[in-house]
Amino acid sequence: MSSKKKGGIMPFLLGIAAALVVGWIIFPKVLYVQETQPVRFSHKLHMEQIGECNLCHSNREERAYATRMPSTKDCALCHYTALTGSSEEKELVREYIKKDKQVPWKASQKQPDNVYFSHLAHKDLECRQCHFDMENRDNLPPKYVNRLTGYTKTTMKMHECERCHARENTSNACYVCHK
Ligand code: HEC
Ligand code: HEC
Ligand code: HEC
Ligand code: HEC
Ligand code: HEC
Repeated sequence: MSSKKKGGIMPFLLGIAAALVVGWIIFPKVLYVQETQPVRFSHKLHMEQIGECNLCHSNREERAYATRMPSTKDCALCHYTALTGSSEEKELVREYIKKDKQVPWKASQKQPDNVYFSHLAHKDLECRQCHFDMENRDNLPPKYVNRLTGYTKTTMKMHECERCHARENTSNACYVCHK
């Protein structure tokens, strides 16, 4: 028969180890869904060609400085027919441009609903002050969406907003950002 010695320190340690694995490794993985872009897009390649963020991101229809994800029309300007042998580009032309369908781009920077953010208020700043190094990105990292809240991991955090407001002598009163 096996030993009568039950308990001891081992089961306790194993229990803690299991809790740590679940809490630190498994739970965060289960909590976030990983989403990738429907079409691989290189900012680096296009900035070398275009050199101007607003060709794709400005809301020209409304003639306002409202920054938004590109529309298929922005791509059709140059990609009405394929320019390269890339399968991604062929798919862009076939599935979206020829069908005049919007690409469901995913934004990894979505502020929580209780935060008020407007690009218009920040129109005098450079894009890169908040979107670091976009012109050198070949592919953006995947987006992690929290299953419980629907928010992404990579939003700008409150202290990042406040640090710049303090530096720029802009109000950090709560109601400025939380309406
Ligand atoms: C030729 C069109 C084009 C140009 C020019 C362009 N972008 Fe983009 N941008 C896109 C597309 C397409 C996406 C969505 C796909 C992706 O993120 O890979 C995007 C996504 C973004 C996002 C959202 C990222 C996120 O995950 O929330 C930011 C921010 C952005 N661009 C900033 C910039 C900045 C800053 C510049 C200039 C340095 C720029 N873009 C130039 C097409 C463009
Ligand atoms: C001003 C012209 C222009 C616009 C606007 C433009 N592109 Fe491009 N794109 C190019 C050129 C030029 C190339 C080919 C570069 C080369 O020779 O490799 C290219 C290549 C590509 C490729 C294939 C290369 C790769 O990275 O796999 C994809 C995919 C692509 N573009 C997607 C887009 C999307 C999506 C949009 C709209 C958001 C867009 N492009 C808007 C000029 C443009
Ligand atoms: C003061 C900081 C700041 C500046 C400057 C700024 N952005 Fe943003 N941008 C943000 C924040 C914060 C978000 C997330 C907004 C949200 O959740 O509504 C965002 C979101 C975006 C998105 C995703 C939009 C979408 O529909 O989901 C794009 C594209 C973008 N910015 C492009 C730009 C471009 C291009 C410039 C320069 C012309 C620029 N931004 C300047 C902070 C900034
Ligand atoms: C890189 C610097 C910088 C960052 C980062 C920044 N801001 Fe600002 N913000 C400013 C400046 C400068 C102004 C004032 C612009 C003006 O008065 O023309 C401003 C103004 C505003 C205003 C308008 C205030 C008013 O009274 O009209 C709001 C709202 C705001 N910011 C929200 C945010 C939020 C939310 C974030 C973070 C998600 C953020 N800002 C990040 C620099 C920044
Ligand atoms: C300059 C903009 C700005 C100002 C000013 C500001 N907040 Fe926030 N706040 C944010 C942003 C952005 C988030 C969301 C951060 C994230 O996504 O994690 C946030 C989130 C929060 C949260 C949710 C918990 C958290 O930390 O994410 C609380 C609570 C909060 N703010 C309270 C306040 C209070 C109280 C004040 C005034 C003392 C204040 N905020 C002023 C931008 C601001």
